[in-house]
Amino acid sequence: MRKNIVAGNWKMNTTVPEGVKLAEDVNAAVNAAGELKCDVVVGVPFTHLTAVKAVLDGGKVGLAAENCAAKASGAYTGEVSAAMVASTGAQYVILGHSERREYFCESNEMLKEKVDLALANGLKVIFCCGESLELREAGNYADFIAAEISESLFHLTAEQWANIVIAYEPIWAIGTGKTATSDQAQEVHAMIRKLIAGKYGEKLADDTTILYGGSCKPSNAPELFAKPDIDGGLIGGASLKAADFMGIVTAF
Ligand code: PGA
Repeated sequence: MRKNIVAGNWKMNTTVPEGVKLAEDVNAAVNAAGELKCDVVVGVPFTHLTAVKAVLDGGKVGLAAENCAAKASGAYTGEVSAAMVASTGAQYVILGHSERREYFCESNEMLKEKVDLALANGLKVIFCCGESLELREAGNYADFIAAEISESLFHLTAEQWANIVIAYEPIWAIGTGKTATSDQAQEVHAMIRKLIAGKYGEKLADDTTILYGGSCKPSNAPELFAKPDIDGGLIGGASLKAADFMGIVTAF
């Protein structure tokens, strides 16, 4: 069965005490909200993982790292491995965010290594894909997104795929206040599901959670989440305030 998920991506924001406070607020709001129609995850900087894990009681809010290394261990100063992330109690890792791809030169090939290490260490992967404004305007975004997904993920077995969540994040909509319309997002989500079906079959494609990310907020989440192939969101800016984040969580 396909799961709805709303995941926060805090990016490089909050100090540890600020992050712990935010996590406490989200945790309290989720506990107070009763039964939700989606799973809730917070994606936090490496430095925050252990401290945030400690305040997420009851297991109602999942924990994600925002990245992990493409190497298992060893002389890679400053890197954080998938095993280290898993050892904090985090259940997820966000991989392939467009900011990582652009500013840290992460290629589809490198992301394949990261995905393998994450899965080998028992982490679920929130795998980001999405096109630039240039590609959107040129009209060839479909091929670009298909390459991102197939080159980093299509070597996986169907069994491994159960631990993959896709996040479609058009780069032109991230942090810009410019949301893709629900129709634009739905079109790409349906295309991604079809791509997965072509490789792994209808059942597995139907079971795959595909999130939308890019200026998602309480005001536009209901319309986005009402679309048949949009199963939740990966939330940047609006995940930094518990009330805004909860406004998206309760949009289902
Ligand atoms: P945004 O970021 O919600 O601030 O646009 C989304 C993301 O980059 O994951």
